[in-house]
Amino acid sequence: MKKILFLASFYLAVSTQAQVTHFKYNNTKNITVNKAAVVSAHTLASNAGIAVMKKGGNAFDAAIATQLALAVVYPGAGNLGGGGFMVAHTSAGKNIALDYRESAPAKATKDMYLDSARNAVTILSMEGRLASGVPGTVAGLFATLKYAKLPFSTLIAEAITLADKGFALTKAQAEDFNNSRSVFLRNNKNKVAFVRDIQWKAGDILIQTELANTLKRIRDFGLKGFYEGETAKLIAAEMSSGNGIITEKDLKNYKVKERVAMQFPYKNYQVITMPLPSSGGIILQQLFKMTQQKKLDSYPFHSAESIQLIVEAERRAFADRAEFMGDEDFVKVPVKTLVSEKYLKNRMADYVADQAGNSSNVKPGQIKESEETTHISITDAEGNAVAVTTTLNDHFGSKTIISGAGFVMNNEMDDFSVKPGVPNMYGAIGNDKNAIAPGKRMLSSMTPTIVLKNNQPYIVVGTPGGTTIPTSLFQSIINIVDYKMSAEDAVNKPKFHHQWQPDVIYVEKDFEKSVQTKLLEMGYKITERGTIGRTELIKIEKSKKSNNKIVITAVADKRGDDDARGY
Ligand code: GLY
Repeated sequence: MKKILFLASFYLAVSTQAQVTHFKYNNTKNITVNKAAVVSAHTLASNAGIAVMKKGGNAFDAAIATQLALAVVYPGAGNLGGGGFMVAHTSAGKNIALDYRESAPAKATKDMYLDSARNAVTILSMEGRLASGVPGTVAGLFATLKYAKLPFSTLIAEAITLADKGFALTKAQAEDFNNSRSVFLRNNKNKVAFVRDIQWKAGDILIQTELANTLKRIRDFGLKGFYEGETAKLIAAEMSSGNGIITEKDLKNYKVKERVAMQFPYKNYQVITMPLPSSGGIILQQLFKMTQQKKLDSYPFHSAESIQLIVEAERRAFADRAEFMGDEDFVKVPVKTLVSEKYLKNRMADYVADQAGNSSNVKPGQIKESEETTHISITDAEGNAVAVTTTLNDHFGSKTIISGAGFVMNNEMDDFSVKPGVPNMYGAIGNDKNAIAPGKRMLSSMTPTIVLKNNQPYIVVGTPGGTTIPTSLFQSIINIVDYKMSAEDAVNKPKFHHQWQPDVIYVEKDFEKSVQTKLLEMGYKITERGTIGRTELIKIEKSKKSNNKIVITAVADKRGDDDARGY
């Protein structure tokens, strides 16, 4: 009977995957398939990834096609003008960590966002031309290509069509453009595709001709189609039309860095994740170790006890982030110590169950709700697993669109510590380790992650959310590993977050009220916020019931337009 039910749910899940055209589509939140899957922030992007795999490509081909499509259909975070990280585990057992994070331009200086009285002018690191780092995404796509199978021209074709011929906006996107109208007008001298005289509504078609032309230059000239020639000239011209400092030379000098993926055990699993310049891998490892030492799994899911333990581990991990972390190519970071069992045991030595800790003596920051990074999780029929998180930083990045080239530039410079102790837009505090220097990469929280079980990909996961990324990722993983939840519940159950400063637990609106009451009694401060993250998760299992057949469950977060697709 169980078998029949299982098969029924399998076929139901596949058959409910809606057909897609550029002008009519619905998202699918949860599918069960057995060959390949893509989960991303937009149906048309997931669809682009699946289409290239069906043409003979692998998960790396899908990663390229999906990112390019996101740059067109999800311009608030998908991008050509930003940067990202890719973590992958190949069918041959190799781990890959690609760092295509933005870098500070050659003319950047440590104090570039301070006024003459040495006060931080943070609007400059958040909005407009001066807020941008040198973009890395296009270089990242070409670095990924060496693991892919299809020609780049095939992988970019769908993105070009989407930009050239247009696609239908979702309701959320139409509202987004309407709400962002004044900020686009403030930061752009020329007309941009997202602004028009009448209000946008769901189903309206967005055509991006300038962006299509940029994509065609990338198709025709490869890396040089972006980092040299006309596109580079357009970027440099946009910068010098205002206070921007990125030059053609900065663009030509940009390089992807292949890092050694961070790998560590958790129970019977291996976690593969992003090293510095992401703080996320270190924080994730610290959270797993600190909570395991204190036997997290002995407390029920979302009990006040389990939340308190996680919050206290988060408090300590984020204090370490502020104190010790930055781009290791520029500063020394004691990574080995930060993740050692002994150090973390000491770190939790003053932990008192039932009593709130205290992040005293540092100025509180403010956390902002819009954290517009975006994540893609992919698995293919060959056994490759790819997790990509890519970002413009804020929603629509710097809000400046490169005139003539049609893409949004990042405001990633705000992820540096513009002045020690001054919180960035996520409320994160840093010091000299994360100070600005030419060529340096700003500390990130992006944490694309793969969990192996028996040395095979088991969970492929990631999320946007700024500093909430490692903490919500941690929760999604323990929900499966420790609390034995379905993949769907693991993603969609309410999330919470603490980041040392400000000293407050953020909870999603649907977070259990009785647990909040208990935490308040322990002495915690609690702030409700809209949503935390948009997790894209794939779980890969072997079916014991049908000859070890691969069963892939792909879940797109309920919190947005996100979409899971597969076959
Ligand atoms: N811009 C968000 C991050 O890199 O963490």
